[in-house]
Amino acid sequence: MSKSLEEVIIDLVELFRPHIESLNSVLDIGTGSSIPIHVFAEIFPQIRFMTIDVTDARQRKKLPFVIYDGISIPFDDLEFEGSVLNETLHHCEEPELVLLEARRVAKSVFVIEHFPSPDASFSELYETEIYALLNFGMNFPLYNPYTEDSLLNLFEKSRLKVLDRIEIPYYGKREIKKYFYKLE
Ligand SMILES: C[S@@+](CC[C@H](N)C(=O)[O-])C[C@H]1O[C@@H](n2cnc3c(N)ncnc32)[C@H](O)[C@@H]1O
Repeated sequence: MSKSLEEVIIDLVELFRPHIESLNSVLDIGTGSSIPIHVFAEIFPQIRFMTIDVTDARQRKKLPFVIYDGISIPFDDLEFEGSVLNETLHHCEEPELVLLEARRVAKSVFVIEHFPSPDASFSELYETEIYALLNFGMNFPLYNPYTEDSLLNLFEKSRLKVLDRIEIPYYGKREIKKYFYKLE
């Protein structure tokens, strides 16, 4: 039997634990269904979590949430110790601005992104991405997947240094690889 999203996330927590458990506050940018960050909040109850997005597609609503304009994050400089962009950047119209804002409001920025395999079909990736979002009640047509080079280029333009990079096991059927980056 395949695992539920929550079970998959619980398995992945151990990968990120060394980076997360010492933080006292985290902002989840582009929280979407908000399921992953709620699982983290249950496992790390000592951390103060806040969530934001440009639209409200949340399926879990225990954590505080604000809608914003997708450009100016409505929090003070360094109000958080960490900000998280989990599969969010490839849906942003202005990803560089979002990254700059993520760094302005937090000392460390944690990015999770997937990269299509070199021979993957873009139309199939696009369809499976949009289908997955629709399954979570999100109708979001913008999908600009990165290659590792284009993502590193974006980090450089945003003046962010990669402090760690971890490959995330992916057991799905899409032709992708997933990575976690810690940036400062
Ligand atoms: C794939 S979903 C996010 C998944 C979610 N982070 C998770 O952990 O399950 C991508 C999200 O990015 C959001 N988004 C798009 N543009 C954004 C922006 N400029 N700032 C923040 N979120 C944005 C979308 O509304 C959508 O909820």
